[in-house]
Amino acid sequence: MLSGKRILLIVTGGIAAFKCHDLIRRLRERGAEVRCVMTEAATRFVTPLSLQTLSEDKVYADMFSLTDESEMGHIELSREADLLVVAPATADILAKMAAGLADDLASTVLLATDKAVLVAPAMNVRMWAHPATQANVMTLGGRGVLFVGPNEGPMACNEYGPGRMSEPLEIVAAVEGYFTGKLAPPDPRQALPQPPEAISLPHRPLLGRRALVTSGPTREAIDPVRYISNHSSGRQGHAIAAALAALGADVTLVSGPVTQPDPAGVRLVKVESADQMLGACKAALPVDVAVCAAAVADWKVAKTVNAKLKKTPGAPPPAISLVANPDILATLAAGGADRPALVVGFAAETEDVIANAVAKRQRKGCDWIVANDVSPGTGTFGGERNTVHLVTADGVDSWPTQTKDAVAARLAARIAQHLVAG
Ligand code: PMT
Repeated sequence: MLSGKRILLIVTGGIAAFKCHDLIRRLRERGAEVRCVMTEAATRFVTPLSLQTLSEDKVYADMFSLTDESEMGHIELSREADLLVVAPATADILAKMAAGLADDLASTVLLATDKAVLVAPAMNVRMWAHPATQANVMTLGGRGVLFVGPNEGPMACNEYGPGRMSEPLEIVAAVEGYFTGKLAPPDPRQALPQPPEAISLPHRPLLGRRALVTSGPTREAIDPVRYISNHSSGRQGHAIAAALAALGADVTLVSGPVTQPDPAGVRLVKVESADQMLGACKAALPVDVAVCAAAVADWKVAKTVNAKLKKTPGAPPPAISLVANPDILATLAAGGADRPALVVGFAAETEDVIANAVAKRQRKGCDWIVANDVSPGTGTFGGERNTVHLVTADGVDSWPTQTKDAVAARLAARIAQHLVAG
């Protein structure tokens, strides 16, 4: 896809600079040639030698290097590429670009270029939300600068929100989007959506707290070889278990049959049926928070048989009668003395997503419900991304489409904020 495309990668000084190694690798394995420019601050996070080794090209960092200028002047450097990619792009470089400053090689190259520029911002959540940065983004968007990210998630500075650099594969997809004409700059006539509020959390805020997460489908046996199930992959539930554990919680993950890797640092209990899942959940109590992300089969076969059902020529297919499964979420929410302080359900809907989720939250008696659309074509079942709405007693908070990991991180941060800050 990127065969023969020349990318000038400008690396500025942020903790996300370490992701550049993978970014260079991913661009090159798609056929792109990558040449790197680094700011002085970037060299504090990654070494020029590592970028040089991965790009198999000279790395440029010094505007006043006589050899660099004689071999490849900064004007030529800025124009020889097909696309300039700034990753990570700090608040500082965005401000310099917006103001037209040129006080080092990176900013000079960016001012001198006549090529398209794609930036992947990475900074503290409050720096990203600051009106100055947002105004710079609008200014740059108005000049045709392209953006990828930032993503939301926990930050190195113990805050949660937008500001994390996009993952290397997301940046690669944006680069490909540019070359195929599918990537457009932000429209300066439309105000940027208000960045969600930053959540400040102490280090590992859920230390000492217990969490229960359900994930994956259940399998309801028809006979020893056949079962009723659904398309849940366990991606979303497993990501939530990992995100809660990352915040310090002692997590029990009760999962139906999935092929997801076991998340590190959580206690995994593998089950098959809804009855087994309920039993494992009850055994995990008491917990401070329960998150039911599993796609539990609503019905099971009334009478399973121990021998394989036989196909008899000429006979009608066997009738299978179903009975309701126990409702695990409703059982946990009804609780009694063991009721978790916070019970979070999911609502998988195919129509009237929010209205149905609001009603489901009340019907099941849980505190919060995370609504997602599972209609065919959304890719919610099994996919990498999810678009969710957090429904609480206070209202509905609709989140942007993001990776399931990002949904999990944001939900875990909200849970921590609720349990710790009250
Ligand atoms: O696993 P993935 O491929 O990543 O996909 C994620 C997902 C779509 C499965 C997930 O985001 C999701 O929506 N999970 C809930 C699926 C579901 O069963 O939704 P529901 O609307 O039918 O059920 C509502 C809630 O009741 C859920 O929290 C469910 O876990 C719970 N439930 C349902 C039936 C039952 N017998 N017991 C339950 O506990």
